[in-house]
Amino acid sequence: MYVKVLSDNKARRGLKPDEGFSCLVDGKILFDTGEASTSLVENMDRMMVPTSELEGVVLSSERWDHTGGLWEILKRKKGLKVCVGPSFSEKFKKCVEELGGELIVVEEPIEISENIFVTGEIKGREKGEDIFEQALVIKGDKGLSVIAGCSRPGIMNVLSYARDKMGADDMYMVFGGFHLDGMNRDEINTVISDMKALGVKKAGPTHCSGEKARRMFSGQYHDDFVPIKAGHIIHL
Ligand SMILES: [Fe+2]
Repeated sequence: MYVKVLSDNKARRGLKPDEGFSCLVDGKILFDTGEASTSLVENMDRMMVPTSELEGVVLSSERWDHTGGLWEILKRKKGLKVCVGPSFSEKFKKCVEELGGELIVVEEPIEISENIFVTGEIKGREKGEDIFEQALVIKGDKGLSVIAGCSRPGIMNVLSYARDKMGADDMYMVFGGFHLDGMNRDEINTVISDMKALGVKKAGPTHCSGEKARRMFSGQYHDDFVPIKAGHIIHL
């Protein structure tokens, strides 16, 4: 099992950086679609990712930085499965169907492709409001791994939910947005300790994780810190 990072705020030479996040699992399942369709499809072309081989798209949330490239992808490949959560707006769901996408509203965890699971929405609170987000879980040769979109419900909330639903004792790798920008050192240290206590062997905070958190994860995970950027290929 492998994952290609297609959109991120950092990018390898020759690829476009993007405010959003997107990655491709096993050449067929797209997790999130970045902010801009131009950077997503350009990076896909440069990384020689053919749209024709896509089978489905999983969206962590309806937010602009995770759904921007969806519409261009749907125009290029008809009949794609598009996994959303119940909290997505009716307008959004209608647009997916109008562009020929096969809308799947994920109520409970599902296996969208062999050993690739969608958690369904995980609930959190932000600024006094309920927020919802789903993550992707991969059962690879090295164990269970989780890809997070923004982690606005809290990265440990996301990981605990994924572990409980999948019945895993530990995790090989966690990467994606950890939503730690703006947190102080003590708060970030708590997250790192909790993640280690949960048995997470490798960590790749990126997207909205913030530079401070990336440096702290790098300092405490040492060789098991994975410096993610667009163009990165991760083997799980
Ligand atoms: Fe985000």
